[in-house]
Amino acid sequence: MISWNPRLKGRHLRTLGDFSDEEMMQLIDLAIALKARKDAGVRGNLLLRRNIALIFEKSSTRTRNSCVVAAQDEGGNAQFLGGHDTHFGHKESVKDSARVLGRLYDGILFRGFRQQTVEDLARYSGVPVWNGLTDESHPTQILADLMTLKQAFGDIRGKRLVYVGDGRNNVANSLMIGCAKAGVDFVNCTPKELLPDASLVSKAAQIAAKNGSSVAVESDPAVAVRGANALYTDVWVSMGEEAKAAERIALLRPYQVNMALCRATGNLGGELVFLHCLPAFHDAQTEVSKDTGALEVSDDVFESSFSKVFDEAENRMHTIKALFVSAIGDPAAS
Ligand code: CP
Ligand code: NVA
Repeated sequence: MISWNPRLKGRHLRTLGDFSDEEMMQLIDLAIALKARKDAGVRGNLLLRRNIALIFEKSSTRTRNSCVVAAQDEGGNAQFLGGHDTHFGHKESVKDSARVLGRLYDGILFRGFRQQTVEDLARYSGVPVWNGLTDESHPTQILADLMTLKQAFGDIRGKRLVYVGDGRNNVANSLMIGCAKAGVDFVNCTPKELLPDASLVSKAAQIAAKNGSSVAVESDPAVAVRGANALYTDVWVSMGEEAKAAERIALLRPYQVNMALCRATGNLGGELVFLHCLPAFHDAQTEVSKDTGALEVSDDVFESSFSKVFDEAENRMHTIKALFVSAIGDPAAS
């Protein structure tokens, strides 16, 4: 029998700040329980007759398909609304579309550019709204990351996670807050040109202090990674920033996560874990990396035994399912 905190009913996920630290960890535990149930071959009805709209302004493999499978696994329906498929944001304001879609759907997941769009959907739709990535944040990703760390380490409090790369992107921002909320020591390793917003760092540091952990920013990769239990990186050029590709590659080359950097943790051959939200440029097999080769992570690290990137990708589905179930699921269904 799957159960969850009834206080999670109807809740938005605009940023991780929408949940208390304890509630965030409860969502991860719910995802772990839902995964165990699926692995045991049980299909449930927790989302029976629930309809979820998926509004996507940007591309997606993991988030989009996680939503579809999560809903279907529990008897629900997720409808993909991409780019110019609807009038959303073009011929109709976000406010008006929100009020229409809120009449039809039980929840809305949005991926796109502006954080304000998530805020407006939450304000006007009357249904739970989940942020599936904006320019500023990527909170559903971080739930999967913390779940993956929990699978690897059991207790994650006091573990040290070092994020290496573009220090001010959506993943780095949400990861900093998520680690602070989970009591994980967080280091953002990035050049001075890509520092995270100072007010976000200070907010994360305050949350971390409450949980007995810390937040730090360090520009020297060899110094930053010392003692790391987990290394995390993301693409150097996020969606919508393609014009900055050459500049970013030049700036971030010294920040590639490769075996030398993994060795500098002192934990290679021990309990080191590598994470990446994906998609990743780890070889020359993509349109983007065919001329550059590996960028943010070397192929040997990506393919190593301590790389948990595909567990992490799978966990996107379990954690998104936990969000859907806790917000709009039927607690009386099995
Ligand atoms: N990590 C992630 O959000 O992947 P997608 O862009 O494929 O959804
Ligand atoms: N920072 C990346 C994350 C992709 C999941 C981007 O926004 O493109």
